[in-house]
Amino acid sequence: MSDLQELHQRIASCPDCDLCRTRTNAVPGEGPPDAEILFVGEGPGFYEDQQSRPFVGPAGKFLEELLASIGLRRDQVFITNIVKCRPPNNRDPLPGEIEACQKYLKRQIELIRPKVIVSLGRHSLAWFSPGDKISRAHGQVKVMDGIYFIPIYHPAAALHAGNMRKVIEEDFKKIPAVLDRAREAPPEQTALEPEPEQMRLF
Ligand code: URA
Repeated sequence: MSDLQELHQRIASCPDCDLCRTRTNAVPGEGPPDAEILFVGEGPGFYEDQQSRPFVGPAGKFLEELLASIGLRRDQVFITNIVKCRPPNNRDPLPGEIEACQKYLKRQIELIRPKVIVSLGRHSLAWFSPGDKISRAHGQVKVMDGIYFIPIYHPAAALHAGNMRKVIEEDFKKIPAVLDRAREAPPEQTALEPEPEQMRLF
């Protein structure tokens, strides 16, 4: 069994916060273990909790459309969340739940070593870059420990507010160029305009 599979088994039976009492299934995430792009949402919702798969509800359908718009299928990217178990009634994850769960995301990043990380939504952005506001940071590329980082609004936002759709689509269009850049040279050796801010991930 691979290290990633082992990690996902641990997540499946994790007892480290109260979400383990209300979940149907933990949702570790899915995708190729060597995916170049890692998408990080907030936490599983109803359908994800039922199926133990990330982004399989309405927001997931829009995510798949967004991926298709840049020539990608969901099985070509890795998709996970900040917290791996559904918060009851889809409430925001609590700080203690995020704290208890973050070891899993850190390990996933270490094992997958993606070239580009895309955070989806403000809770995901807050974990990677505390203090940043999504209204300002969305679509802006940063570098974290040698990995390009792009925060994007959560796809569910487009389901509630129609004008968000265009904003998210425009931000998604930036992903292929960033990936090309990452493939050509690690971010340390490359200059983006504007020069990405350097951040620490670990
Ligand atoms: N929203 C998320 O943030 N993650 C999912 O997996 C599904 C919906």
